[in-house]
Amino acid sequence: MLESDRVATCERYRRRCEEFGYDCRTLGWNKDCQWVRFEAALESLRPEDIESVLDVGCGFGDLLGFLRERGWRGQYTGVDIVEDLLDVAQRAYAGDSAARFLLGEVGELGPEMKSGLVVALGVFNHRVEQGNPAFVRETFEAMWKISERVVVCDFLSTSSDPQCRDERLYYADPVAIYHLGAQYSKRVIIHHAYMPFEFQMKVWHDDSFDAAAPVFPPQRQLARAQTEWRKKRRLD
Ligand SMILES: C[S@@+](CC[C@H](N)C(=O)[O-])C[C@H]1O[C@@H](n2cnc3c(N)ncnc32)[C@H](O)[C@@H]1O
Repeated sequence: MLESDRVATCERYRRRCEEFGYDCRTLGWNKDCQWVRFEAALESLRPEDIESVLDVGCGFGDLLGFLRERGWRGQYTGVDIVEDLLDVAQRAYAGDSAARFLLGEVGELGPEMKSGLVVALGVFNHRVEQGNPAFVRETFEAMWKISERVVVCDFLSTSSDPQCRDERLYYADPVAIYHLGAQYSKRVIIHHAYMPFEFQMKVWHDDSFDAAAPVFPPQRQLARAQTEWRKKRRLD
């Protein structure tokens, strides 16, 4: 991220935090819909994908609260460039020994921060001087390098009515985002079915498949089960 974008982002959230405090409006959300985003982000992930989570642009660390509500007990790392938000998060989860919060960008983290799931929600919503496609590419590359299993990120969508768009915000084309993800892996989900004007992309590291049964690892068991089922039904 350009230094000028970093300064502008910090100032925006610092001002909102001063005005609204621990409130979704500080994060730029007008309504408390985060749990809907979080739930959508976890869809199709397996327990082994989320043994550890790195939350890029974690804000107040609300994703951690959601995960703990659901009984998740893994290691959580939240990283954000805005100190005021991290202070709130640190106080909110001070009693959680498997949680840590760090100041900075994902590209500044060392390899010891590698996590199964690396997720960024709401990070790409604002227009940046750098140009949003370049910012998305650079951040996604850093997320990919520090993830072990899967990267999840979300975007405001060009599905929104052009007249209703806010010129300060960035609306991404789901097709262009798919093409970005497909440069990293064949196993990509574009999820555009949880909110009308937002979507998420999930990209898995393991996109291995066997030419004899071209399915991805989570589907292998199902493919084998069908083969067994058909063998039993074979007519002599
Ligand atoms: C819309 S808020 C969402 C916060 C949180 N992900 C959530 O869903 O509740 C976006 C967050 O991304 C952070 N952010 C923006 N650009 C960032 C960057 N380059 N690196 C780390 N955090 C960033 C902001 O400071 C802010 O906390």
